[in-house]
Amino acid sequence: WSAAAFSRPLPVPTPMRPSRLRLDRDVYDLTVDKSTAEIVPGVRTPILSYNGTFPGPMIVARRNRTVQVNVHNRLAADTAVHLHGGNTPQASDGHPLDVIKPGASRTYLYPNRQPAATLWYHDHAHHMEAEQVYRGLSGLYIVEDAVSRFRLPSGKHDIPLMFRDVNLGVDGTMTWELFGQPNRSTVLVNGVAQPHLTVQRRRYRLRLLNCSNERSMRFTLGNGASFLQVASDGGFLPRPVSRTEVVLWPAERAEVVVDFAPFKAGTQIMLENADGEVDTAKQLLRFDVAEGPGLFNADTSYVPATLVPAPADRKPTVTRKVVLSFDAANGVFLINGKQFDPERVDFTVKRGSTELWEITNTDTQFQIPHSLHLHLIQFKVLDRDGVKVPEWETYPKDTVRVLPGSTVRILATFDSEYTGVYPFHCHFVDHSSVAMMAQMRIVP
Ligand code: C2O
Ligand code: CU
Repeated sequence: WSAAAFSRPLPVPTPMRPSRLRLDRDVYDLTVDKSTAEIVPGVRTPILSYNGTFPGPMIVARRNRTVQVNVHNRLAADTAVHLHGGNTPQASDGHPLDVIKPGASRTYLYPNRQPAATLWYHDHAHHMEAEQVYRGLSGLYIVEDAVSRFRLPSGKHDIPLMFRDVNLGVDGTMTWELFGQPNRSTVLVNGVAQPHLTVQRRRYRLRLLNCSNERSMRFTLGNGASFLQVASDGGFLPRPVSRTEVVLWPAERAEVVVDFAPFKAGTQIMLENADGEVDTAKQLLRFDVAEGPGLFNADTSYVPATLVPAPADRKPTVTRKVVLSFDAANGVFLINGKQFDPERVDFTVKRGSTELWEITNTDTQFQIPHSLHLHLIQFKVLDRDGVKVPEWETYPKDTVRVLPGSTVRILATFDSEYTGVYPFHCHFVDHSSVAMMAQMRIVP
């Protein structure tokens, strides 16, 4: 099937239609079931899906307007839905042990009290999430607000791109093996291998999400052109940052603006993963530059020099240590020396307070990278091994990379109105699914 590279158009997700509109909320229904998808041309690959689509449908929410999602589990296994990056009440957090049993339904409420951001939802059922996310249980969730568009490219010039890798057998079925091979051989963009997208000679907003289980990606444009990054995990950066490469580890997001106006019609520009080992993991998406936009549709988009105010720096009142490690003797990943245990609460955090977390990956022997994801809030990354992180990695972040042997310091302000027990964990889902996870209790 590789002969067909770049023959298929990129599927561009469109906002899912609510099943009902109520005065105070938009109601959606998601059915979790087995299905098939045409990942490579002419082959029906068995998948797990939300509403039969791969990836799941894209929900577009408005800040401060509640979204209700009714999830119906038609699988023979448990599922839980977590809105990654969401400021979500505990009952709707999709905690790994707060699952929907086979045949059951469950309602999640997302009040969307947070700024515009590119979020995503995914399976989080304990021990199951790695395989279930891999087989298809993830989708985009975009929060819009009054400033979310500025005059950035919008509508059909605002393109969400979900990247994830997969191993496909010769018959096109997904092969799954926990830890089999951290980097799977084919990267899919919005669910298909090596698509193309026809673009006009104008600016586009691209929302990049790496939703791979374990693969990290280094995005570049084949012709050396740059990206203007405007947003990170949890929303807009204070100001745009120009970059020639964008690295995203699993669960991280970056929104970038790319201007195709300088290129002649007929130019082909490859969106590459510079770290890809083989063509199918390296050459991800081909942009085919066409004429246009034409006199009557001239590009009036514009990226302002400042986007949103930077958060005020607050002094931490508590310092925490988080140690990520690999216990080779027992073959387990640990946080602070232990595996996940539902009774275990590592930190009691006062709502509204600011804490300094020092996160260390002590594994220098096996060189296994880890990341740390906190549910509920966005944090600020201060430094990595004492070196200040670049502007684009500062804030708002909900997932941070922790390289082998390194220490990252983050400043977390628990500014959510919600309290309760929330997980924090490594977001290599193959690791979290084997219990590389801990909990914090947020108290009033
Ligand atoms: Cu995206 Cu607890 O995870
Ligand atoms: Cu890990």
